[in-house]
Amino acid sequence: MKVLAVETSCDETACAVVSLAGGSLREGRTIVLADVIHSQAVHARYGGVVPEIASRAHIEHVVPTARAALAAAGIERPDAVAATAGPGLIGAVLVGLSFAKAAALGWGVPFVAVNHLEGHLLSALLDDPAPGFPFLSLVISGGHTTLYEARGVGDYRVLCETTDDAVGEAFDKVARMLGLGYPGGPRVEVAARTGNPRAINFPLPRPASRPMDLSFSGLKTAVRTRLERHPESRVEDVAASFQDTVARYLVDRVEKGVALTGIRRVALGGGAAANGHIREAMVATGLEVYLPPKSRCTDNAAMIGNVAALHLAAGHDASPLDTSARARWDVTA
Ligand code: KG4
Ligand code: ZN
Repeated sequence: MKVLAVETSCDETACAVVSLAGGSLREGRTIVLADVIHSQAVHARYGGVVPEIASRAHIEHVVPTARAALAAAGIERPDAVAATAGPGLIGAVLVGLSFAKAAALGWGVPFVAVNHLEGHLLSALLDDPAPGFPFLSLVISGGHTTLYEARGVGDYRVLCETTDDAVGEAFDKVARMLGLGYPGGPRVEVAARTGNPRAINFPLPRPASRPMDLSFSGLKTAVRTRLERHPESRVEDVAASFQDTVARYLVDRVEKGVALTGIRRVALGGGAAANGHIREAMVATGLEVYLPPKSRCTDNAAMIGNVAALHLAAGHDASPLDTSARARWDVTA
C-alpha cells in the first residue's frame, strides 16, 4: 500500500510517498519511497512566518511538489492520499488538505486526515531500529512542547506539557533578542557552538502549580534581563547557556516521565529535536533514546504518510471528504 502524503501546516510545502512494508503493522514499518520539501525562504526577510504569504506559496508549490514525489517514487497513482488537517496556520493547512481531498476523490482512493502532532510523535517509527510500543515521545516544535506516553497507534497520554511558550518558540524569541534573526532555532545552535554553556547560570524554570508541567516564559525573561543588565555579554555565551538550560530542563522532565511510567524507550520529534545539544543531552541519560534524522524532526510529509499508513494498517477508518482544517487539535482526544 502506497500513500501520498501532503504537509502544508506552516512554511514547508512537503509531499512524500510512503509504503507499508509487508502491508501490515506486525510485518513491518513504513518505508519512505519519496520525500520532497519546498522550504519557503521568503519569510526570512520578515523575521518570521507570514501566514498569508505561506498560504499563497503553498498554492504555488503543492502540485509540483506532489508530482515530484510521485515521480521520485515511480508511481502515477497512490493507494491512498493523506494530508495534515491541523494543528497549524489555518489558511496554510487548507491548501494541502483541499488538494489532497480533491486528489483522493479524483483517483477514487481513500483520504486520511492526519494530526500534525501525531506525525512528530511517531516520526521515530520511520527509523531502523524503531522504538516498540509503549514508548515516551517528546515533541518539541515551534508551537508545541509535550511529553507523551505512546501506548499504540492512536493511543497517547500526555505526561507533561508547556504552560506557555513552546521550545522552538523560545529559541526563536531568544534568537530575536540576540539579533540572530530567522530561523531562530538553528541560528542559536550555530552561535552556541563557540559559546560557553556555563558562562551564565540561568535557573531551571519551575512552575509552582503542577511539578510536571513545563514553562519557558521565565527563562525567556531571564535571557532578556541578562542582556539588559549585561549588554557586554557575548551572544555566543548567552546562546550556549540558554540552550544548555533548555536541554537540562527537557532531560529532567523525560527522566520524571520515565520514573512515572517505568518506560525507558524515549523518542524525540519536532523541529527543536534537530538541535544537536538537546540530542546529545538525551543520549547522555543512558536511556534507550531514538532520534529521527534532523530532516525528519523539522516539518516533513514522510511523518504524515507514516501516521496515515499505520492507522490504515491498524484497520482504522479513512476520513470523510468533508473533514475540515483545524487550527487546534488535541492528539489525545
Ligand atoms: O516542527 P517544526 O519544523 O514546525 C512546527 O511544527 O512548529 O518546528 C519548528 C521550530 C522552530 O521554532 C525552530 O526554531 C525550531 O523548531 N528549530 C530548532 C532547530 N531547528 C528548528 N530549535 C533549536 N535548534 C535547532 N537546530
Ligand atoms: Zn511541526
